[in-house]
Amino acid sequence: MPAADDLIRDLLALEGAFATEVASLASEGDIRAAQARFLGKKGRVSDLMKSLGSLPGPERPRVGEVANRVKQLIETETQKRLGALVDLARRRDLERVVDVTLPGREQPLGRLHILTQVRRELVDIFRELGFEVADGPQVETDFYNFEALAMPADHPARDAQDTFYVASAAGTPGVLLRTHTSSVQIRTMETRKPPIKIVAPGVVYRRDDDATHSPMFSQLELLVVEEGARMSDLKGVILHFVHRFFGPKLVIRFRASYFPFVEPGAEVDMQCCFCGGSGCRLCKQTGWIELGGSGMVDPRVFTACGIDPEKYTGYAFGFGIERMAMLRHGINDIKHYYEGDMRFLRQF
Ligand code: PHE
Repeated sequence: MPAADDLIRDLLALEGAFATEVASLASEGDIRAAQARFLGKKGRVSDLMKSLGSLPGPERPRVGEVANRVKQLIETETQKRLGALVDLARRRDLERVVDVTLPGREQPLGRLHILTQVRRELVDIFRELGFEVADGPQVETDFYNFEALAMPADHPARDAQDTFYVASAAGTPGVLLRTHTSSVQIRTMETRKPPIKIVAPGVVYRRDDDATHSPMFSQLELLVVEEGARMSDLKGVILHFVHRFFGPKLVIRFRASYFPFVEPGAEVDMQCCFCGGSGCRLCKQTGWIELGGSGMVDPRVFTACGIDPEKYTGYAFGFGIERMAMLRHGINDIKHYYEGDMRFLRQF
């Protein structure tokens, strides 16, 4: 039967053993594991204390007291070692040598997508002329895309714009992906009083897919409504835009055309910016390049939007942004814009 003094000696020895063991440990995990080996439920201190019960009653408090002190010392030693580890890490951090003469690491800079660049440039050209930017939803109703633009159901002009329809519950009006930004004309005239002078850039959708057509592309729409707006104003604005965007000497022409929501309506052509009008592969030897549709707002459209056609006149122009960028940069396939190929994108 161990005497109280033997137990006390063993306990004190444990404290020394712990200090020795922990002195060689260099990680928090190892130190905590060592602490658990001594102070844990099945640790070495608890192990010794099992024999406390076999001591005569009066001896126990003395041993208990030493046990508590030993536990306390082990605890203190643990904290001391952990504290030393933190200090060491801090010191290493401070002493780390940074060579400020090494060349920096270059971060590759991102850039705006070519279409974003061109769209912004176009919008800026018109903003300088006093146009405001307007916006409308891409998922549109039949009313704004067709009906209010003088294309009622069964109107043949609808077929020219192969439309993506969005399935809708029977009885609700047709929901579709807008086929042009002209829908923004209606949304603007419906909510605002003239004078109106807006540009509306945005994505549109058509069931169309080849080298120069994509089912999703962007247009830019121009609308001016004011007292006395004339077709010569329209021509002046387009001419200014062509000179700013493509070159100062280029000539434009109107070619009579039909859009239900304008009267008269015209396609706008620009003298070919590649050959100067003498005829080349890009203008198909015609010397002209088609830019977009335009015309004077049809009085029926004004009436549908609650604008007095006796008092106001207006003009509109709509064109494809991808096409403008293709002409400007000689891009030969519209798909390049959407494929995300860095070899293409990095050039702009
Ligand atoms: N919205 C027509 C289209 O996409 C273009 C257009 C705009 C025509 C404005 C006339 C006036 O084909």
